Amino acid sequence: MQDNSLISHLFTEEYKEVKSINGIPWAYKNPEEKLIEWSYKTFSFFEHNSSILKSLQGKLNNNEFKGLTKQRIQKYLDDKNSYLKKSRKLLKDFLNNEQEVSSTSSQNILSYEDLIFRDWLWGKSEVEQYYEKIQNDLTGREKNILVLGAGACGLSYTIAKNTTANVIACDINPHLFLAAQKITNNKSFDSFEFTESPKELSLYSKKVSIDGQEKLNNHFQVFCDFNQIPFKLGSFDTVVSCWFYDIIPSSLEESILHTNSYLNDEGKILFLGPSNFNKNQISKQLTKEEIVEAFDLCFKSIKSDTFESDYLADTSKSQKRIETLLYICASLPKNRKLLIYKEETHIPLNPQLDSYKQKITIFEKILKHVTAGMSYEELSKKLEVEFGFSKEEAKYYTKNFMNKILSEL
Ligand SMILES: C[S@@+](CC[C@H](N)C(=O)[O-])C[C@H]1O[C@@H](n2cnc3c(N)ncnc32)[C@H](O)[C@@H]1O
Repeated sequence: MQDNSLISHLFTEEYKEVKSINGIPWAYKNPEEKLIEWSYKTFSFFEHNSSILKSLQGKLNNNEFKGLTKQRIQKYLDDKNSYLKKSRKLLKDFLNNEQEVSSTSSQNILSYEDLIFRDWLWGKSEVEQYYEKIQNDLTGREKNILVLGAGACGLSYTIAKNTTANVIACDINPHLFLAAQKITNNKSFDSFEFTESPKELSLYSKKVSIDGQEKLNNHFQVFCDFNQIPFKLGSFDTVVSCWFYDIIPSSLEESILHTNSYLNDEGKILFLGPSNFNKNQISKQLTKEEIVEAFDLCFKSIKSDTFESDYLADTSKSQKRIETLLYICASLPKNRKLLIYKEETHIPLNPQLDSYKQKITIFEKILKHVTAGMSYEELSKKLEVEFGFSKEEAKYYTKNFMNKILSEL
């Protein structure tokens, strides 16, 4: 277990006495709400998976699969059941809420699960490549380094192993963080890797054992949200943002200015990530030049370069994705500004609101009749009764509705 007293001086008063989950500080402004939120996400994850497995088992029992496909699916079912059992043990602190609650983030239990395998199983070339970039810009005199959205902690651990600084890995995802905690505390982590379209039959689902790593006294994990960093302003010499600014909702410039508040006057951000941001909002879809410009606006000194990397090179797949990545070392912050999340106080006057409400009400009514594994015909019959549709109408709505649902799952 990490010794949290070694980093307690970095927390603001409000977060000094926070509870911890399995020894990792649970440093949220509203810790109980966050625990309920992640417990509901955990519950949904198990519910969803159990219903898929039940439906597959039903099909197997009905002899709907043959030959090698039958074998593959039987093995998948066995492995997935063992995997869920292991995950329940890992996530035991998050198994006490079945009530639906709204979430402030789109992240789920399984978001970025591949990172566990990338960081600790597939060979460390990607993480090593990232560390090679970073190490040239570390002076060796750093005291406190913050790693944002550290995920499975491969990079934060590598940095900690090679410096004397306290390296603090922050993330919100319990699944990634609890797996990382086991591995970085010298315990082996047994799991299963499931690969869609693998290169060989045996790789579709396979049992894996990830070796534990030597425990480091200067590597710390903290559950917290980037929007509400629990540390004192100006605490860090260096903040590492690796594949992070591109996935959070705020604009890049806002995120950098917010991060700068936690840097000391000589501090730096080491950025690694895609060389273009692919987001929904056109103003947030950034090219390489715009990413560099955003750093330039917020720092006195910056240098940048691009390099090629095998992104998430899953050894079970026959294809690799080569990405052009951008590395930026930005030092001496010249502007700072905390992200302040304004709560909405009024429902917007939007003419689409009423038709949206109507559509959602109908969807909810339909959804009540949907169970995993049922046939389109069964659903169609139920819609005929519920809405008084003709047979043809019911068929049409069933197909359209299910297409929409499947595209959103
Ligand atoms: C694309 S992954 C990158 C992980 C890691 N930096 C890497 O390069 O492997 C993004 C990470 O950010 C975390 N994350 C997402 N939103 C966050 C937030 N608001 N605060 C902290 N971490 C967050 C996710 O859980 C995930 O681990």
